[in-house]
Amino acid sequence: MDVVEAICSRKSIRGYNPTPVSKETLRKILDIATRAPSSDNAQTWEFTVVAGEILDNIRWGNVDMLTSGVVPNPDFSLDHLKGVYRERQVGLAIQIFELMGITREDRDKRAQWRQRGYRFFDAPAAIILSADSSLSESRVLFDVGLITQTICLTALKYDLGTCIGAQGVQYPEVIRKFTGIPESKRIIVSIAIGYPDWNFLANKLESKREPVENITTWQGFE
Ligand SMILES: Cc1cc2nc3c(=O)[nH]c(=O)nc-3n(C[C@H](O)[C@H](O)[C@H](O)COP(=O)(O)O)c2cc1C
Repeated sequence: MDVVEAICSRKSIRGYNPTPVSKETLRKILDIATRAPSSDNAQTWEFTVVAGEILDNIRWGNVDMLTSGVVPNPDFSLDHLKGVYRERQVGLAIQIFELMGITREDRDKRAQWRQRGYRFFDAPAAIILSADSSLSESRVLFDVGLITQTICLTALKYDLGTCIGAQGVQYPEVIRKFTGIPESKRIIVSIAIGYPDWNFLANKLESKREPVENITTWQGFE
């Protein structure tokens, strides 16, 4: 698979086969992905790879918190979107709910869908990305962003699908409880990883992109 094919075929996978992913395969993916660039080559990323009972404990710990109405307190939070960004966010939700046959009025199914994200989409494994708390937020987010995409692209070589997840790390206390990640590390994002269930309807999603002409200024060209 060449690089363009990998970039264009990667998509968020939100339904997985239960087949486990071997530690060896996950190790190879991380070995390759750590070739990602980082500012000053500081390689600020750290991985906690979870599967089996520990991942199940985190999944259900997250769902317990969510359904009990506990307000999330993530180590890094995403802002509330406005304007065109909010439109794109809503556009994504409409596409997903249409594919899944979930109507606007069906609050129960919407809540169940939300929980799925907190359960790492029932993937057989997840990678939790963290970084030392002594590092600046801008440095860490840039570096971890780069390695996150690199992991997702590398996974394709092993027929694995991924979904980057902010939802999975909304309750860092749950992750800390079951993994032992200390307070001295900030938990940034998760990547659900596993073999895609291609019959799962949301996996048919082709998310939209703004045409390049709308977001690009060309200068110094004829
Ligand atoms: C930082 C980050 C956090 C994300 N968190 C979630 C999430 O919590 N739940 C989810 O369903 N998708 C999540 N996504 C996936 C995005 O929705 C997805 O990448 C985007 O809609 C584009 O679709 P594609 O990945 O299929 O190309 C996240 C992506 C990023 C980069």
